[in-house]
Amino acid sequence: MYPKNTWYVACTPDEILDKPLGRQICGEKIVFYRGPENQVAALEDFCPHRGAPLSLGTVRDGQLTCGYHGLVMGCEGKVVSMPQQRVGGFPCIRRFPVVERYGFIWVWPGEPSLADAAQIPHLAWAVSPEWAYGGGRYHINCDYRLMIDNLMDLTHETYVHGSSIGQKEIDEAPVNTRLEGESVVTSRFMNNIMPPPFWRQALRGNGLADDVPVDRWQICHFTAPSHIMIEVGVAHAGQGGHAADPSVKVSSIVVDFITPETTTSHWYFWGMARNFKPEDTALTAAIREGQGNIFNEDREMLERQQMNLLAHPERRLLMLNIDAGGVRARRILDAHISAENAAENTPPA
Ligand code: FES
Ligand SMILES: [Fe+2]
Repeated sequence: MYPKNTWYVACTPDEILDKPLGRQICGEKIVFYRGPENQVAALEDFCPHRGAPLSLGTVRDGQLTCGYHGLVMGCEGKVVSMPQQRVGGFPCIRRFPVVERYGFIWVWPGEPSLADAAQIPHLAWAVSPEWAYGGGRYHINCDYRLMIDNLMDLTHETYVHGSSIGQKEIDEAPVNTRLEGESVVTSRFMNNIMPPPFWRQALRGNGLADDVPVDRWQICHFTAPSHIMIEVGVAHAGQGGHAADPSVKVSSIVVDFITPETTTSHWYFWGMARNFKPEDTALTAAIREGQGNIFNEDREMLERQQMNLLAHPERRLLMLNIDAGGVRARRILDAHISAENAAENTPPA
């Protein structure tokens, strides 16, 4: 259950450097590669000759050649040539709208005529020299909505991430959930607490004392279909917290793009954008490593949760106040999915 008439992060440019990439997105098997002008192309991963995956082929001078019998496919999904064959009558394959922007490759897996690149969210941190970004990608065997739940309720940090960002004060601080236009926001503020290890490292990285009390915040912003930006940080206590002067705080944005693969698996693009010491590439690498380890801790919990849910589809789950962010996000998704289904079932006038 996912909307298809929307933009998802499909991959990153390093994944299509010298060979095609096959990736399933919202149930669609797609091949990504760079065409003749270096532009990204996204086609059905299905050779019209005998159905081989084109992603097992090669790309040379922007031409995608099927790895089975050498059919050459054009970026628009029309066959260009094949050894010893006339290809004029060969059927075309599907082309998917695709855009490279902000260091990501975005794909629209639904109805192509509805795709509008202006709907790709604006990522101010991705185009500013005052910000640095480091991130990675995980394949996770669970419904993408379980990951949304996970990120819209950070209570779990106390238990899943006890050695890095978790601390008991998260549990003790109330969580606030609200709607802001089309986005769901959950926030938590924890004042006058000692920073956990991840934030002590970040404070040191920014040249700040790390053994003093801090005010800590987490503000999670969900927008459809599955983009979650989390403002996180700590400031030396009593200096204004989230609004404190940059000289006494470390703050960043946890970046999450969650792309459904099937109904029970997804691609998770995670990262952190920060606006302190953006030129410090060693710091970017250290934060990336720490974050990668932390997010890997969620994997087992989510995958085993999915297995439980599949084994017991009849079980009703609880919805507590800490679950409000995920519940509201699902309502927005359900509305998108219903609208798509209604449009599909409406006969043309
Ligand atoms: S299956 Fe692709 S060329 Fe034969
Ligand atoms: Fe987590």
